[in-house]
Amino acid sequence: MSFDEFLKEVAPRLGLQWRPFQRRGVKRKVERRIIELGFSRFDEYLLRVQKDPEEKSRLSKILTVTISRFFRDKEVFDTLETSVLPAVLKNREKKELNVWSIGCASGEEPYSVSLLWKEKFKKDFPGVRLSILATDIDEKMLRRAEEGRYKKSSLRETPQEVLENFFKKEDGILILYPSVKKSVGFKRHDILREEPFPGMDIIFCRNLTFTYFSKESQMKVLKKIFSSLKEKGYLVIGRDESLPLTFPTLFIPIFPTQKIYRKFNPNR
Ligand SMILES: C[S@@+](CC[C@H](N)C(=O)[O-])C[C@H]1O[C@@H](n2cnc3c(N)ncnc32)[C@H](O)[C@@H]1O
Repeated sequence: MSFDEFLKEVAPRLGLQWRPFQRRGVKRKVERRIIELGFSRFDEYLLRVQKDPEEKSRLSKILTVTISRFFRDKEVFDTLETSVLPAVLKNREKKELNVWSIGCASGEEPYSVSLLWKEKFKKDFPGVRLSILATDIDEKMLRRAEEGRYKKSSLRETPQEVLENFFKKEDGILILYPSVKKSVGFKRHDILREEPFPGMDIIFCRNLTFTYFSKESQMKVLKKIFSSLKEKGYLVIGRDESLPLTFPTLFIPIFPTQKIYRKFNPNR
């Protein structure tokens, strides 16, 4: 059995599409795991994955890329600053602002929201408390996120003044100030297999569901996101992603180029 044949067989069982992970790095990781288990062929490993839920989850992690960066697709954060956050904050004097970053990798995305808040909004909204829930299936990524230590390459889209105001440099590593971390809570959570969290104003679901998951899994996640968002809540997906068509419509594109949607309310 070739690697392609293996992926074609295994991906649907994991709720994934098989095309995007035809990458050499991923193949090498799968091969390494096969050797670790004492096997030598893809078909032997396939049998193991079918029988062992833990191995299933381990393979899911291998097949989805975990790379991220601060202020990824900077224009998305510019639109959040100029349009989305002002709209969400309108008529909101003393309340919580709830944000969920799904598939948060090592924290780059939720911390970017926290940085944007501290830099541009916090002073003008003293009664609002920002609370960011950041979830990922991979414990290792979450531990890294909590550490808050980053290489320069993951900060290349970060505004200079943010770098200067909120990071300490040590031996070429950039260390995030604890005050930025305070608004972010990390939690292990599998968006495909677990229940969503309610009461969100903005949900980020970028470069995971609508890139790696099968159409069926995408619909499942989209419904979870819909139920998790408050009325008029926003959904941000990856710049190169698109939402599956739904009937009735669940989300309307508010900033189509930035892939920012709002929960659709048919009664308004
Ligand atoms: C490419 S990163 C995206 C990071 C960030 N959202 C961004 O756009 O830069 C995808 C992340 O999704 C996580 N992931 C994979 N499957 C998941 C699942 N079923 N539930 C939650 N997170 C998952 C991976 O561990 C990885 O950290």
